[in-house]
Amino acid sequence: MTRDRLYRIMRPEAAGRTARTLRGVHHAMVAAGIGIMLADTEAQMRQTYDAALDLSFHFVCLFFAAEYVARLFAAASAPGGEHRAAWRSRLAWALSLAGVFDLLGALPGLLDILFGRRYASLFGFVWVFKLVRYSPGLTSLGRVISNARHALLSVLLGFGIVLLAAASLAYLFERRAQPEAFGSIPAALWWAIATLTTTGYGDVVPRTAAGRALGGVVMVSGILVFALWAGILATGYAEEMRRRAFLRNWDLVAKVPFFHDVGAAVIAEVTRLLQPRDFPSRAFVIRRGEPGDCMYFIVSGEVEVRLRPESRRLKAGDFFGEMALLSGSPRSATIVAVTPCTLLSLDIVHFRELLARQPELARAIREEAERRRDDAADEPSRHGEPAAPRGADQQRSIAPQPSDS
Ligand code: CMP
Repeated sequence: MTRDRLYRIMRPEAAGRTARTLRGVHHAMVAAGIGIMLADTEAQMRQTYDAALDLSFHFVCLFFAAEYVARLFAAASAPGGEHRAAWRSRLAWALSLAGVFDLLGALPGLLDILFGRRYASLFGFVWVFKLVRYSPGLTSLGRVISNARHALLSVLLGFGIVLLAAASLAYLFERRAQPEAFGSIPAALWWAIATLTTTGYGDVVPRTAAGRALGGVVMVSGILVFALWAGILATGYAEEMRRRAFLRNWDLVAKVPFFHDVGAAVIAEVTRLLQPRDFPSRAFVIRRGEPGDCMYFIVSGEVEVRLRPESRRLKAGDFFGEMALLSGSPRSATIVAVTPCTLLSLDIVHFRELLARQPELARAIREEAERRRDDAADEPSRHGEPAAPRGADQQRSIAPQPSDS
């Protein structure tokens, strides 16, 4: 296996059977490693399955050590690697956050050799971090926090102010009644933080009326602070997800030749409306006779339009499913994926919006639909079934619908 291929299949989003198998084995090893770590702290499990746990632990450690070496070797094929020496790319990866975590993942193996499994397996918890690179949501979290840091710091400052004010007032109200718990402001801080975070252990409670009133205010403030934090993070997270989806869709839309000549403004608009969908080979994308609710653009792969006397193949850059949307009639043919396909689907509401706003696109889609309908009119039957009666539905025009304009 070449270094470039190794790099490609080890990327978390890599497609293909080898990459998927590798990911599956990796996740199984993480689960096994953590299972061994948990089992090792149970005396009975340890006694009963000591030999099996030992063997499995060595195996897991070996796997993560081998993974580290493989990633280090493949790092030279990272984008930009062609402009610098291989050792520089490897060093850059080894010093990156991902490289450091992978090194920590190889650490239990080293501790195992030096101190034995009992101590080494305690560090097995670091393996759970190896799953972070496979979760786009978690990898985005750092970016979300960084983008929202000003708002988060403002709320943190508010939290600090309320905390200090609460501890000072509690000290003022309660120090005589409970000198052991509120005898100093640092001592009162414990009560303030347990109350402000609404944890409320109940080990220290105010006894004076003023102290209890203060407790009520602090609890409500705590809820407000955390609601603000949750709101800031949730908004940032939703924005980040939208941004990622937009970038991914943009790449896909830009690959479809149909959109090559339409300009960046139209691609930006289309990108917001299209949803990527993957189909395995032999999957039915459209079935003849069903009502149409969306059309598709092919980004990669091939589909077969089942027609008689001869089926047609559509490939990257082609579109289908437009006829039912334009005419309001049921699907005119069954469409099956011949190879694994990535499609962009455009639902009927967005289809109408797009046609209304982009007359050039609308014209191209209508012309193709007219051509296909004429083709169908010349054919005696489809897929062994009698030709669908060309009744009102089938003959309904695919000229602009009222809502298109
Ligand atoms: P629709 O009728 O919505 O669903 C089936 C799709 O098959 C149809 O839209 C067209 O996009 C496509 N189709 C129908 N006839 C042909 C043809 N002759 N050539 C290519 N595609 C076709």
